[in-house]
Amino acid sequence: MPVRQITTLRRTKSNNRALERSVISSTHRPVEALVWPQLLALAAGGDIVRPVYAEAHQAFWNLYAPVATGHGGDAFVIGQLGQSLDGRVATATGRSHYINGPESIRHLHRLRALVDAVIVGIGTVVADDPRLTVRGVDGRDPARIVIDPNGRLPPDARMLADDGCPVFVVQGCDRPRPAWVTPVVVPPRDGRLDPAAIIAALSALGLRRLLVEGGAATVSRFLAAGMLNRLHLCVAPMVIGSGPIGISLPPIDHLDSALRPHTQVHHLGRDILFDCELQRPVAAPACSQDALLDGVES
Ligand SMILES: NC(=O)c1ccc[n+]([C@@H]2O[C@H](COP(=O)([O-])OP(=O)(O)OC[C@H]3O[C@@H](n4cnc5c(N)ncnc54)[C@H](OP(=O)(O)O)[C@@H]3O)[C@@H](O)[C@H]2O)c1
Repeated sequence: MPVRQITTLRRTKSNNRALERSVISSTHRPVEALVWPQLLALAAGGDIVRPVYAEAHQAFWNLYAPVATGHGGDAFVIGQLGQSLDGRVATATGRSHYINGPESIRHLHRLRALVDAVIVGIGTVVADDPRLTVRGVDGRDPARIVIDPNGRLPPDARMLADDGCPVFVVQGCDRPRPAWVTPVVVPPRDGRLDPAAIIAALSALGLRRLLVEGGAATVSRFLAAGMLNRLHLCVAPMVIGSGPIGISLPPIDHLDSALRPHTQVHHLGRDILFDCELQRPVAAPACSQDALLDGVES
């Protein structure tokens, strides 16, 4: 069946430069071919696009459009973790490849392609040596950022590749880094780096759409500080039974205090993705970063 696509463009009253676009599409055209290019254009600051898609295409759009648009001039921060049914993000020996299936891995690469920068904690770099590039989907590589307050970053870490992509190290004091790496100094508070201060420092560098990709301690710190706009939890049908858990926040006494984000569910192959919309700041109980880390197995 031939692909049918009708596009209408019209100028809005409020902003005659903004275009409102309706796309009525055949469901036979893959989302990757039809919707993904629109999302990449949106992330690149293209026209305001308000498509009307068939159901499956619309779900794909709804999942990624908030990341592609961000919050205009304000920072937009999304956290992600892949975990087992019992909430583990790795084995007891630190192996996390691959809890999630290929569809979820493509999802993670799509998120990378839509943001300005991807952030990981130094624990993830030491354990996994990730490249943090976009592979398997169309899109440009984001800037790469590691939070490394104690100078543990191996000089041959793959995320430090001198490939023309900006690389940043968030640290609490001056430390020598390779010439092509930009240190971002965030003064520590109680020995920790405040996620709000990290986001402010990165925003000042023009990095406003941020993906906090792991590990569990780093994502949990951003969540506890109320600094996540969205959280993607990708649950694989697997029980690991031991090893570090994902989200870990300070204890609460009553379920009234639990976070209850507005959540959409998506199927990614055999995995289930929970797309959680959080209000920033999140009403998380005040805690010291030490208390938070005590609750994270590693
Ligand atoms: N399943 C998944 O989605 C996924 C994703 C990523 C990683 N992983 C797995 O998770 C494990 C690593 O995670 P992890 O939780 O141990 O480590 P992590 O979150 O990658 O890194 C934590 C470390 O980063 C530094 N850090 C992060 N935020 C900071 C802040 N606000 N202030 C000061 N320091 C900060 C600290 O370094 P210092 O210790 O030097 O103080 C902290 O101990 C590995 O096994 C990896 O395979 C799983």
